[in-house]
Amino acid sequence: MSLLIRGGTVVTADARQRADVYCEDGLIKAVGPDLEAPAGAEIVDAGGRYVMPGGIDPHTHMELPFMGTVASEDFFSGTAAGFAGGTTSIIDFVIPSPDQPLMDAYRAWRGWAEKSAGDYGFHVAVTWWDQSVHADMATLVREEGVNSFKHFMAYKGAIMATDEIMYSSFRRAVELGAMVTVHAENGELVYQLQKELVAQGMLGPEAHHLSRPPAAEGEAAHRAIRFAEVIGVPIYMVHVSTQDAVDVIARARAQGQRVFGEVLAGHLLIDESVYRHPDWATAAAHVMSPPFREKHHQNALWNALQSGTLQTTATDHCCFCAEQKAMGRNDFTRIPNGTAGIEDRMTALWTHGVGAGRLTPEEFVAVTSANTAKIFNIYPRKGSVSVGADADLVVWDPEATKTISAKTHHQNIDFNIFEGMEIKGLASHTVSQGKLVYADGDMRAVRGAGRYVKRPAFSPIFDAIGKSRRTPRMVAR
Ligand code: URP
Ligand code: ZN
Ligand code: ZN
Repeated sequence: MSLLIRGGTVVTADARQRADVYCEDGLIKAVGPDLEAPAGAEIVDAGGRYVMPGGIDPHTHMELPFMGTVASEDFFSGTAAGFAGGTTSIIDFVIPSPDQPLMDAYRAWRGWAEKSAGDYGFHVAVTWWDQSVHADMATLVREEGVNSFKHFMAYKGAIMATDEIMYSSFRRAVELGAMVTVHAENGELVYQLQKELVAQGMLGPEAHHLSRPPAAEGEAAHRAIRFAEVIGVPIYMVHVSTQDAVDVIARARAQGQRVFGEVLAGHLLIDESVYRHPDWATAAAHVMSPPFREKHHQNALWNALQSGTLQTTATDHCCFCAEQKAMGRNDFTRIPNGTAGIEDRMTALWTHGVGAGRLTPEEFVAVTSANTAKIFNIYPRKGSVSVGADADLVVWDPEATKTISAKTHHQNIDFNIFEGMEIKGLASHTVSQGKLVYADGDMRAVRGAGRYVKRPAFSPIFDAIGKSRRTPRMVAR
């Protein structure tokens, strides 16, 4: 099975060049001018288009059991929707319920993901602590290729990681050469504000936003980053949504700490006015955590992405349809938290990033695939267009236009937070493992074709950085 992408401009995070790309047996075999295709090879004419690494979405929740229901998008439908938007890999989350052995949860998620059309990996959440968690973390890193552990600082009474849990888990992660990641919101503060708002009779989606102020994110980001500093573990902040958190990340990075940050396409482009929409269902459809913010935070997020304070873009793709959102009709705290976006991330970022002059095409590649691959240790297998890399590619038509709509999207949800957005720049062809999986509107995703991608633990350089930073800092305090 071979494929030649001919006549395009190859864009990576580093460079742009006119080149053909030849793929065989799932890998990129040649990149260069005027490549010959063997007889029988499929040919894609990429004239006038860009050829880039397939997108990697480092934050999705396919078929997540959450808040009394299960996310409507499964691993097959979700990764197929990703193909329609040029995303070829995801990193999803295993989220054990408190007291569930990590390995049991991990096996359950591996089973669900077998239907995936695109390649996938997992972050594993640490939601509780005992010696079995300590042991399972080692098994996950050493045998299963998990190199990142997630901590929800919010969702008190459910999956929230206390400071004690974070401390134990961060210590274990650094021993194992793993990264820690956090959802930074002060769960206690959110919980108390929720109770107050409910007591005042504020029961609609607008109260969701009020219960999760930017300061709750800023405080939690600061706390998690300080824990990571003391322990000497690299930390990745998921869905950074506020100036408050950006400032904390920027300061830590300026002081030499290994802190990385992710921003969601939704937080870059949507503001908090959606929670005041007169239609309850529309307002509820936007309920996610952290919530959409006042406009000035969007500027801070764009600036942070442009300047490198934030390095990755994601979606937190977590779909709940109208009847699921209706579980919170009389109490906003019961609206399942989550919104979709895997299909729209790249086109929305191209339109409002490259199209608006905020990002170059090379920077677009950096923030949609290469940086994620580097941070999570799968580069250059993913996130590059180089000989020997996985043939996960997108042919990008910078002139193509469309209007985003739930009526036409592939995502398994009845709402689109980007509804009506006019975009310019679209995936015309998507290639996964060297095969065309999406071609000019023709969806060719194959159920179960996706592979689990192991991510090795970090190299000793991380340990060395951790140790050299840890000792003097701890003595100084
Ligand atoms: O609202 C969200 N983000 N739902 C998914 C869980 C999480 O916090 O990432
Ligand atoms: Zn989260
Ligand atoms: Zn999430």
